[in-house]
Amino acid sequence: MQHLVGIKYLSKEQIEEIIFLGREIEEKGVSVSAEGYSLINMFLEPSTRTRISFEKAGKNLKMITTNFSSTVTSLQKGETIIDTVETLESIGYDILVVRTSTSSLPFYLSKNVKRIRIINAGDGYNEHPTQALLDALTIYQTFHTLENLSILIVGDILFSRVARSNIYLHKKFNNRVMVCGPSTLLPKGIEKLGVEVGTDLDKFIDKADVIMALRLQFERQKGMYFPNVAEYRKFWGLTADRLKNLQIKNKKFIIMHPGPINRDIEIDTQVAYSEESVILEQVKRGVFVRMAVILKLLGLI
Ligand code: CP
Repeated sequence: MQHLVGIKYLSKEQIEEIIFLGREIEEKGVSVSAEGYSLINMFLEPSTRTRISFEKAGKNLKMITTNFSSTVTSLQKGETIIDTVETLESIGYDILVVRTSTSSLPFYLSKNVKRIRIINAGDGYNEHPTQALLDALTIYQTFHTLENLSILIVGDILFSRVARSNIYLHKKFNNRVMVCGPSTLLPKGIEKLGVEVGTDLDKFIDKADVIMALRLQFERQKGMYFPNVAEYRKFWGLTADRLKNLQIKNKKFIIMHPGPINRDIEIDTQVAYSEESVILEQVKRGVFVRMAVILKLLGLI
């Protein structure tokens, strides 16, 4: 594996290798270092979790880590992305972590670089592969399997790279995947990916082992996709009432959210802090999974 640009390009075996290496790092620590190698974070969109956990992952592996700031670089002077990336490659960076609003830019970069490894840290509506991998590690650590599971993804599917990467991943494991949200936020043809699609959350919610709420991406929504946030919460929110209804059924389930959360819109604060919520475990595992990805791409393990 030379680059990580999308879950759709990975085999089930490659996914398992990363997840199980992440689990080993979580449980036993890491015995290998990447000393002498360097990583640069090029985040052209805001990020807290992904950027900082890549930085931490690199530092845990003893790498030189640098944060690229688009506002004080020659991108501002009109330099193209590919010229910038070639420059970073010439300076000697080994890994470029890129977040961008341009779907497929990491794929394009991966086809136009010589030596530097490209990691997609989220590209437009396309993919967020390390998010899906850390989600899968969290699911594995709860259910001790990645198969025979029912995954419900609820919310803003249309603009969600997290949804797409999770769908690609779970379909490779033949899991049941259900997607639900307002019809305006369900992409046309999404059922072709092998998912069940609907608008009624209460029809799906008690069938799921994993309930994954998505952030409403107001910054990408040009116009109104639902009447208002109160209506959205009522129909598609993980509310305290919905949680209570699930808890009385005595079935094991977990609640996930990639973050950042819009509190009391797509998820109630009480639900985010419930026993079933694994949101902060997801964040924690982001470091282990990203260490695993770095080690794999550098061929150190
Ligand atoms: N989940 C996620 O990508 O969060 P950040 O935008 O904070 O990196």
